[in-house]
Amino acid sequence: MRRRNVILVGFMGTGKSTVGKLLAKRLGWTFIDMDERIEKEQRMPIRELFRIHGESYFRDLETKALSAQLDADQQIVATGGGAVLAEENRSCMLDNGWVIALTANPDTIISRVSRDQNRPLLQGNLQERVNTLLEERKHAYEFAHVTIDTTHLNTDQIVDLILQTNTLEP
Ligand code: S3P
Repeated sequence: MRRRNVILVGFMGTGKSTVGKLLAKRLGWTFIDMDERIEKEQRMPIRELFRIHGESYFRDLETKALSAQLDADQQIVATGGGAVLAEENRSCMLDNGWVIALTANPDTIISRVSRDQNRPLLQGNLQERVNTLLEERKHAYEFAHVTIDTTHLNTDQIVDLILQTNTLEP
């Protein structure tokens, strides 16, 4: 592996940002949320980016931002749930860090995402949208080095497991 980063991938609501922040604190590394980076650069929320410019415009921004971000070291990078869909992004992640996929069962995902309105792909019937996307993406996160099912774990337990998976030193 060329660089030392931890890259968190997973479906919406699997806890990438919450886990990433705590992991960064434990390692003394920088935490980066890719959606936040894009929102800052574009000066608008993700849902507005989708509404005004469409999903493919967002995906291009996401690819460019990810490759720029992974040029640096010692970061915990939480990616958007769809960042794994492009092969270019997957190889960039595998080349530049230790890739951890977080998963959770559908009910857990639905209860976690129901609190947040900033997810354009979940507009409409939430349960239906989550189930459809989970089906479409059922193999999308399998490229990761490690997969952790977060359904019955708290944030501390998830971070402990991640720290056990590789020799990441604070
Ligand atoms: C998306 C997930 C979102 C965000 C955008 C698209 C997806 O990120 O990037 O709404 O395609 O799964 P989170 O996984 O952080 O919610």
